[in-house]
Amino acid sequence: MKTISIICQKGGVGKTTTVVNVASIFSTIGYKTLIIDLDPQGNVSTYLNYDKNPEKDSNAIDLLEKKNDIVPGKISDNLYILSSNIKISKFNEEKIVGGSKLQQAFNMNNLESFDLIIIDTPPTMSSLVQEALAVSDFYLIPAKPEFLAVEGVAQAMNFAKQAIKSIQNTNPLFLGVLLNQIDKRRSSYLEFVSELEYLLAEKLLTTKISQTAEIADGPFYAKTVIDFKEDSKSRNEYFDLANEILRKVGLHEEITELPDNRY
Ligand SMILES: Nc1ncnc2c1ncn2[C@@H]1O[C@H](COP(=O)(O)OP(=O)(O)O)[C@@H](O)[C@H]1O
Ligand SMILES: [Mg+2]
Repeated sequence: MKTISIICQKGGVGKTTTVVNVASIFSTIGYKTLIIDLDPQGNVSTYLNYDKNPEKDSNAIDLLEKKNDIVPGKISDNLYILSSNIKISKFNEEKIVGGSKLQQAFNMNNLESFDLIIIDTPPTMSSLVQEALAVSDFYLIPAKPEFLAVEGVAQAMNFAKQAIKSIQNTNPLFLGVLLNQIDKRRSSYLEFVSELEYLLAEKLLTTKISQTAEIADGPFYAKTVIDFKEDSKSRNEYFDLANEILRKVGLHEEITELPDNRY
């Protein structure tokens, strides 16, 4: 089991879009995948057309309350969710003293049957993001190529470092920064990329995700890249991203076995 948190205190950089699309690829290619939504906005549910307050299934609040009978909701074959809603905000400012709630909940529940757990987080520097890092093996920071984004990335990296230091028994690795919503026609783009390359070196992911109408419209139709046509640019970019992530988390060998002829 590998757990990956997608974090950034800025909203609108593509955290939820990344979570939903890579998770849907991972599950489609055969990895049993769980999405945990820790954002009070509950956007993952909206995106996947799933209940923010499910009656039968457990949600992320149950997990933070350290219930020991967690049953995630099922979205499709191999894809499961612990959804979120506004009630999760009560954990936002609770300091992590006496250990992380999620660490305890992970120990109490058998989540080991999942190959991958992907955690969506709120656009804050809060306890909920700390909780995500407390149970993560890796974390990824999406960024948009725009003015002040470099500052946003640096702040997110610093927050993660401090948060990790303050929690016991966790040491997630920084997977890198994902450039999302790129538009190569914009004159500032190359300048922006070279600044980030200078700052991050190999911590800037090779795969970059273009801004497309297909992605922007996805949530309206509860569609992820898996539902896009095979020659879709966004679909191919997200497959490259999924592949890069799998390689970085040490699951790469298995993806070469996949039926998808791109690999
Ligand atoms: N590559 C992309 N192309 C077009 N629109 C995108 C892309 N990535 C994200 N968006 C849109 O940008 C908005 C913010 O993305 P979201 O994933 O919700 O960000 P966050 O979770 O960081 O707040 C959403 O409306 C989403 O559909
Ligand atoms: Mg979001």
